[in-house]
Amino acid sequence: MTIAEKFATMEYGPAPEDPKEASNWLDRHGRRFVHFINGEWQPPAAGEYFDTVDPSNGERLAAVAQGSAADIDAAVNAARVAAPKWQSLTPHARARHLYALARLVQKHSRLLAVLETMDNGKPIRESRDIDIPLVARHFYHHAGWAQLLEQEFPEYVPCGVVGQIIPWNFPLLMLAWKIAPALATGNTVILKPAEFTPLTALAFAELCQEACLPAGVVNIVTGDGRTGEALVKHPDVDKIAFTGSTEVGRTIRAATATSHKRLSLELGGKSPFIVFEDADLDSAVEGLVDGIWFNQGQVCCAGSRLLMQESIAEALTVKVQERMSSLRIGAPLDKAIDIGAIVARVQLDRIRKLVDQGVAEGATCWQPQVALPARGFYYPPTLLSNVHPTSIVAQQEIFGPVLAAMTFRTPNEAVELANNTVYGLAACVWSESINVALHVAAQLKAGVVWVNCTNMFDAACGFGGYRESGFGREGGREGLLEYMEPAWFKNAPALPKLRVPSSQLPEPASETGAGKGTAGVPSKPGFGLLGWRASAAPSADANDAALAAGGLEGDGPPNAQAGSSFEGDGLQAVRKNAQQTSGALAPEAPAIDRTVKLYIGGKQVRPDSGYSMEVRAEDGRLLGEAPLGNRKDIRNAVEAARKATAWAKATAHNRAQVLYYCAENLSQRRDEISHRLAAVVGEKQAAAEVELGVQRIFSYAAWADKFDGAVHNPPFRNIAIAMNEAIGTVGVICPREAPLLGFLSVVMPALASGNTVIAIPSEAYPLITSDLYQVFDTSDLPGGALNIVTGYVSQLLKPLAEHDDVDALWAFADETTAASAKAMSVGNLKQVWTNEGRAIDWFDPKLAEGRWFLEHAVQVKNIWVPYGE
Ligand code: NAI
Repeated sequence: MTIAEKFATMEYGPAPEDPKEASNWLDRHGRRFVHFINGEWQPPAAGEYFDTVDPSNGERLAAVAQGSAADIDAAVNAARVAAPKWQSLTPHARARHLYALARLVQKHSRLLAVLETMDNGKPIRESRDIDIPLVARHFYHHAGWAQLLEQEFPEYVPCGVVGQIIPWNFPLLMLAWKIAPALATGNTVILKPAEFTPLTALAFAELCQEACLPAGVVNIVTGDGRTGEALVKHPDVDKIAFTGSTEVGRTIRAATATSHKRLSLELGGKSPFIVFEDADLDSAVEGLVDGIWFNQGQVCCAGSRLLMQESIAEALTVKVQERMSSLRIGAPLDKAIDIGAIVARVQLDRIRKLVDQGVAEGATCWQPQVALPARGFYYPPTLLSNVHPTSIVAQQEIFGPVLAAMTFRTPNEAVELANNTVYGLAACVWSESINVALHVAAQLKAGVVWVNCTNMFDAACGFGGYRESGFGREGGREGLLEYMEPAWFKNAPALPKLRVPSSQLPEPASETGAGKGTAGVPSKPGFGLLGWRASAAPSADANDAALAAGGLEGDGPPNAQAGSSFEGDGLQAVRKNAQQTSGALAPEAPAIDRTVKLYIGGKQVRPDSGYSMEVRAEDGRLLGEAPLGNRKDIRNAVEAARKATAWAKATAHNRAQVLYYCAENLSQRRDEISHRLAAVVGEKQAAAEVELGVQRIFSYAAWADKFDGAVHNPPFRNIAIAMNEAIGTVGVICPREAPLLGFLSVVMPALASGNTVIAIPSEAYPLITSDLYQVFDTSDLPGGALNIVTGYVSQLLKPLAEHDDVDALWAFADETTAASAKAMSVGNLKQVWTNEGRAIDWFDPKLAEGRWFLEHAVQVKNIWVPYGE
């Protein structure tokens, strides 16, 4: 063939990378690998091994140890022993270790890239030019964070011992995403690589030895899901970080609910790739190649749903098919290959099955005429068109080189279609109009949005999902926070356990409104401030669920005189502080016979149940009645919150103005509110709650237009705009011990950040609701932005946790309730934030307000925008 002919056909021969060095490395280890524990190679306790194979030809590469509970135990012990020494190093010393690891990754980059390709099947071009350089970048970047840690996070301490479980699609890169921030923040780790791709993690263990990392700081235990499960369940692990399937993520959420383990989950996705009619179509097609055929589509953020504006759908489809025909599929070590092998036979079968199902549901399947290699696990690039938005191939993660195409007419329709899955990991928007692109980007439920680009990653820019794509971020400043806690919080004393009596309160006949409006209360439980006074009664369901989640304690009030004797150390400290903060207030008997209502959609409404509960003072006096909210009231409140779009769309300045107005109105009513509150918390605490309450609202009014995001400068011609976005609708269980100040401390940061809220006020004094709605009603807070449902936490927690339209759940309560909140949210993988049953001193602004609260009220969305020609 002449050069001219070659130029015309673009035909070229194979250009294989030499696997010799990697093969020699495998041979040097006798093609048999054991665990890396406490800085040494340790054989598996049970003596079991499994094979890891090269998916491009099905050949065995090596035998690898199968980790058992005993191996995990040894690794956790090593990490625990190593932790204090690692934490006692200076930040600079830790930075030097991370820097050494980055240098070693670069030094051995070719070996690591070839090994990765052999074990995973991804094209060498990708492992060499993308995976491994990003691994080095991650360690360099986090070496910098280690150096700056004490200056930038002076009040924070590491979680401790961290268990990390990673998938097979980016084996070494996921290791770097996990290990670098954990070490930079002073944690020690046990990492379990995926069973299909353990080799580069073992090579990394050698680099740890070469970098003289102290023994036990990094431990690598290989094995399958059973090994991961043992790590998740180990009682001495402080945090679990997981990347993998949503299904396993759910299992891990359930398994960690009753422990105090921190958890971050990076799960699946079904990311939209939106192309508007004004897009540069050729660039969009190149972006699409990267979006869905990169790593054979085995990418959590793969642009697997192509959403085309109707007017260009036909032209774009032709261009996509033309480009698909020129993709080269074959041996991944060939440097000219675009699409390599699928990681394993089981994954190949899964892809085939899902595509068959999609076709059975009406999709049209198109594949280019390409010859697949005779051996190994290969699947051709595939375009499914005429896909219905509800089809399995539009809803479920395929994790293969399969694109599902749909059309839309207007930007609104594009957003609706894009958000129409349970996931929310990433999205691409292609339009030459930056206004349209950014307007759409802001409305997409996704942690990362790439405008006119695809698959951009950098250590400085956070990555992570919305909704069932998980919670927590990796990379950037926000990624570091996943591995640290405020020192005061880590050491905060526990709140006493709340014991829930088992006597049953009669339930209304149905949830259809039977009994509505009737004031009859067959059984009237009473409330002391901090304990149960009489026959308070959660539903059997709630009790059972709580029991399943960790066990509520036995029957009856914990002590005859609820209140002071129920206080633990934590609460006594809170009280003491309250008394010091308070001013004097003239006591006068508060009026009895107050009946408050629920506050939903800006209106006072009666409870669906028709029941109410008595509220009593510390001395037993009847103070009034509060409605007993139920599941239906929660549903109504969520609906109202969802409709209150004006609040989410309000400018930060406007939100600040409303909050200042709230503070003003609370201030004007300070005497009467304080006076009523005094009946349950005493005069001094009441006065302090109101005074500090005004200040707390002021603080969050101040924060509303200051808790901004960031603009990152990744090492490409891009900027990444990190937006602090409201999470959406947040359910809040307010602290029992400070009915007013506790309420404001948790509700205000959520509101200030633009969330809508359903708040369950303190059971000890739900009558505060009437004081609050007077304040909010007169402060221009739009109806539905804040909804208050009074009642038993044990009854209201479940409907809040299970409601799919509640995006986050905060529970500031005793340990059992906090655990229940997590356990009940497993189904929809809601992000849950709790006090872990610890006492928070609401009267100390240094602890009870500020960034820590705001950070939980937002999720960071990174919008990448390229610049230049
Ligand atoms: P997987 O979620 O089962 O595996 C990921 C990791 O979790 C592996 O290290 C595995 O050993 C471990 N693991 C499995 N069961 C566990 C358990 N009960 N407790 C603790 N750890 C456990 O993913 P799999 O089976 O390899 O792939 C299935 C599907 O999951 C894929 O087709 C894809 O749709 C999705 N997936 C998503 C990934 C992502 O990056 N979001 C990565 C891998 C898979």
